[in-house]
Amino acid sequence: MGYQVDRRVYEPAEDSRLLCATLEKAVVRFPELRGCVLELGTGSGIVALMLASLGATVTATDLNPHAVALARSNAREQDLTIEFLQGDLFEPVGDRRFDAIVCNPPYLPPGGDYDDRWLALAVEGGPSGIEFTQRLLVDAPRNLHPKGGVWLVFSSLAGRLPAGWERERFDTQDFEDENLCVERLSHPTINI
Ligand SMILES: C[S@@+](CC[C@H](N)C(=O)[O-])C[C@H]1O[C@@H](n2cnc3c(N)ncnc32)[C@H](O)[C@@H]1O
Repeated sequence: MGYQVDRRVYEPAEDSRLLCATLEKAVVRFPELRGCVLELGTGSGIVALMLASLGATVTATDLNPHAVALARSNAREQDLTIEFLQGDLFEPVGDRRFDAIVCNPPYLPPGGDYDDRWLALAVEGGPSGIEFTQRLLVDAPRNLHPKGGVWLVFSSLAGRLPAGWERERFDTQDFEDENLCVERLSHPTINI
């Protein structure tokens, strides 16, 4: 698939591709990935477009308005129908529930030298890197169907996750000083 890029929007990288490859394989075992799927932090839209092309009904959000505009335009180019919304994490979808929630989060601790605040937002996940993901997991049960899964990219450079989630690890990728992996998290006590 071809994508337009924008210097104010996260350009698809190894983590984006690892997540896409994992989801493409996992859809056989997890039909939730062809159901109603919410992607948080869509960036260029690469993950949302891939899920839509697998047959999912996709809603994708981003706090960065340039990302929402770019992803919308990339979806239009490929004739894919996706709902794009701008806002902070789950705020744009209210209390709607989804079969799966997918996110390649910002996960690095601060310290990078970014000349654009939107790029820093795309990469830095809070003081120890994991705070964005922790916030996502605290709020996720309200927006997830009881048997649904949260599909996340994790970096070994980020901190620890909140307790209470069952975790299954999928693909991993090693770099010189970092390990990336994709996990599916499910919550045993989600109530309607
Ligand atoms: C690592 S990028 C991933 C982009 C794309 N999904 C990919 O895999 O290439 C993280 C994205 O999260 C977005 N983001 C950061 N904080 C956010 C927030 N509080 N609410 C929604 N999106 C946020 C960033 O703007 C960025 O587009």
